[in-house]
Amino acid sequence: MTDTLAYMRNFIRDKNVASITPTSPFGVKRVCRNIDFDCGDLIVEYGPGTGVFTNYLLKNMKSGSRLILIERNKNFDSILKRTIQDPRVVIFNDSAENVLETLRSCQESQADYIVSGIPFLLLNCLLKEKILYNTHRALKKGGKFLVYQTCFQADHHLKVHLERFFPSVHTKFEVRNIPPLRIYEAIK
Ligand SMILES: C[S@@+](CC[C@H](N)C(=O)[O-])C[C@H]1O[C@@H](n2cnc3c(N)ncnc32)[C@H](O)[C@@H]1O
Repeated sequence: MTDTLAYMRNFIRDKNVASITPTSPFGVKRVCRNIDFDCGDLIVEYGPGTGVFTNYLLKNMKSGSRLILIERNKNFDSILKRTIQDPRVVIFNDSAENVLETLRSCQESQADYIVSGIPFLLLNCLLKEKILYNTHRALKKGGKFLVYQTCFQADHHLKVHLERFFPSVHTKFEVRNIPPLRIYEAIK
């Protein structure tokens, strides 16, 4: 409930929040089903919001692994910094296209997984291109870019763009979310 209030407040002021409620536990589990937590030493999350994915990831990640959060909205960044107290986590108030610099500042080069809830539908072509290009470079070979979007997205909004960068792209739907989700698994 507190999370939903935070989303509503921030949604009014920031169109990039793009949701008035956090992803449901069903949605979170469905996206994270694509993660092998025994191998995921470094995970990056774009757009954690109030941290519904973050908390699930931390519950399942090994003790020696690392989670880097990149959240553009200042209010969500403050909430995350206040509520997530885990030595495996680093939080950046930044935008996803700067992922390579973020990794460098953490003395890391490439991630095993990047999980993203940022609204690709609202991004201009240049920014979409930059985020996909840098995300591809930020992943290890075999690494996965896991994206969840609203189900209203057609292939030309994201799937065809992912296919230009990633050799393998699968999509599926999760209806137990408001609104239902379209989930993408892009493998480098
Ligand atoms: C649809 S919400 C998802 C929030 C949360 N992960 C969830 O599942 O409920 C999108 C989130 O992406 C953030 N965001 C939007 N554009 C971003 C960008 N370019 N870089 C990083 N975060 C971004 C928003 O501030 C918001 O927190």
